[in-house]
Amino acid sequence: MAITRIPYPVFLAVLFVMILPHAVAYDPLDPNGNITIKWDIMSWTPDGYVAVVTMFNFQMYRHITSPGWTLGWTWTKKEIIWSMVGAQATDQGDCSKFKINIPHCCKRTPAIVDLLPGVPYNQQIANCCKGGVVASWGQDPAAAVSSFQLSVGLSGTSDKTVRLPKNFTLLGPGRGYTCSQANKVPPSVFLSSDGRRTTQAMMTWNVTCTYSQLLVAKNPSCCVSFSSFYNDTIVPCPTCACGCQNNSTCVIELLFCRSDSKILSVVGVNTPTNDNTPLLQCTDNMCPIRVHWHVKQNYQLYWRVKIAITNFNYRMNYSQWTLAAQHPNLNNVTQVFSFDYKPLVPYPSTNDSGMFYGIKYYNDILMEAGPDGNVQSELILQKDFNTFTFKEGWAFPRKVYFNGDECAMPPPDVYPYLPSSAHGNLVSSLIPLASAIFMLLVHWQ
Ligand SMILES: *[C@@H]1O[C@H](CO)[C@@H](O)[C@H](O)[C@H]1NC(C)=O
Ligand SMILES: *[C@@H]1O[C@H](CO)[C@@H](O)[C@H](O)[C@H]1NC(C)=O
Ligand SMILES: *[C@@H]1O[C@H](CO)[C@@H](O)[C@H](O)[C@H]1NC(C)=O
Ligand SMILES: *[C@@H]1O[C@H](CO)[C@@H](O)[C@H](O)[C@H]1NC(C)=O
Ligand SMILES: *[C@@H]1O[C@H](CO)[C@@H](O)[C@H](O)[C@H]1NC(C)=O
Ligand SMILES: *[C@@H]1O[C@H](CO)[C@@H](O)[C@H](O)[C@H]1NC(C)=O
Ligand SMILES: *[C@@H]1O[C@H](CO)[C@@H](O)[C@H](O)[C@H]1NC(C)=O
Ligand SMILES: *[C@@H]1O[C@H](CO)[C@@H](O)[C@H](O)[C@H]1NC(C)=O
Ligand SMILES: *[C@@H]1O[C@H](CO)[C@@H](O)[C@H](O)[C@H]1NC(C)=O
Repeated sequence: MAITRIPYPVFLAVLFVMILPHAVAYDPLDPNGNITIKWDIMSWTPDGYVAVVTMFNFQMYRHITSPGWTLGWTWTKKEIIWSMVGAQATDQGDCSKFKINIPHCCKRTPAIVDLLPGVPYNQQIANCCKGGVVASWGQDPAAAVSSFQLSVGLSGTSDKTVRLPKNFTLLGPGRGYTCSQANKVPPSVFLSSDGRRTTQAMMTWNVTCTYSQLLVAKNPSCCVSFSSFYNDTIVPCPTCACGCQNNSTCVIELLFCRSDSKILSVVGVNTPTNDNTPLLQCTDNMCPIRVHWHVKQNYQLYWRVKIAITNFNYRMNYSQWTLAAQHPNLNNVTQVFSFDYKPLVPYPSTNDSGMFYGIKYYNDILMEAGPDGNVQSELILQKDFNTFTFKEGWAFPRKVYFNGDECAMPPPDVYPYLPSSAHGNLVSSLIPLASAIFMLLVHWQ
């Protein structure tokens, strides 16, 4: 069996470069990921226009979670918003100049939020009213779109006189997304529902917003730990990966009564909160999310990994969570149990990354910390004997992202070592038994 060794210094250097945390403002596994905002003027009115604004979340594995998006911009003239369908401005602003018809919003820099589900039909348009929650493109393209309609006054009334709004913000200035200028693009073409007639917008402009973890938080929000079948060592998350432990701000211990899973004695856990302040279980890494990668089994032609994601936040259910990982063997994933899986193809020449997400209605919600606060999967990868090895931590992931945020990894030289005495015969002695188990498992599932 030919196993190519990667020289250790090279491996370390490569790992180190890959692990350099948060040095880049874009996603290496999703380099084109962006949210595109398309603004279509559907008709002109005596003093302005009616437009439909549509957000497409083209990010493969980052969604917009509750409390949802806020979209802002700066008007370039004296524009006002007469009315909106499917969304609303958070502040009306100073409309005292208007006596009879009062506009919906007179602010020069409106901030728009989605309506909550369940609004009456006459206040809805397609793809609105989801509380600002937008799925990722990789998980559910149909739910990765969000729209609203607005009627604008005191603007131009033709494509010659309308001025494009400036300084678009998504989520708020300095929070997560930076947006390009609006660019006039060829007018959108719409197909009627029976597919027999097309209509065209009067005028269209696009804005592209890209995510930057740098803008959001200095600390990671998740971390990765390792273990393997060939070594008892569990490599934990790096200490202080997401913050250092402070027993006065975390929950030291929770007791669960087995019969009804009720929390018996905890300070603060049952206190309702309106904000999103996390209430974390005390750990020495203080990460809300831990991803554990266990190299579980070796077969002749395959190997098996178990992935467990654990939630340490008592105040958060993660719905529509995603996990993206980079590992050179992910191009040969043979089977994934309990999670959905989709390869990510950031560069045409490599297929070394993929995204995992929950199966709808089964484990697509990662419950709050506690006995149900975890989801698990196993995957079987086919060995490519040009590269496959258990040595030098090769079997562990290079990068991991939870909900699009990069997770803190153990340092590059810290992983469960392959016992040096057992190199040759470990694999061969396990083959007959392991392949028998594999066949059994495959037929079982
Ligand atoms: C935004 O994403 C779409 C879909 O992946 C892509 O076609 C487009 O080029 C991206 N735009 C930018 C500016 O990156
Ligand atoms: C847009 O933002 C830039 C930089 O923050 C600022 O200089 C400019 O005046 C803003 N434009 C408008 C129309 O507010
Ligand atoms: C504008 O955005 C829409 C929606 O993402 C896209 O279909 C269209 O190609 C974009 N236009 C340009 C010129 O980028
Ligand atoms: C722990 O948190 C409390 C309250 O926020 C703060 O007063 C204290 O200084 C912190 N202790 C440490 C060691 O960071
Ligand atoms: C927090 O509490 C644990 C268990 O009571 C203790 O071992 C640890 O030293 C404490 N840490 C700090 C920073 O006080
Ligand atoms: C999480 O979901 C469960 C079940 O739907 C619910 O009982 C619980 O209150 C939720 N927790 C939070 C923090 O929203
Ligand atoms: C990567 O995966 C995609 C989809 O599975 C496939 O079409 C493509 O050929 C693969 N590329 C390489 C270089 O293996
Ligand atoms: C692994 O995938 C690569 C590219 O997708 C393919 O060329 C190769 O043959 C596969 N190896 C095995 C052992 O299936
Ligand atoms: C297991 O790995 C650790 C390093 O993570 C190493 O110190 C230890 O010696 C290994 N155990 C065996 C039995 O090789």
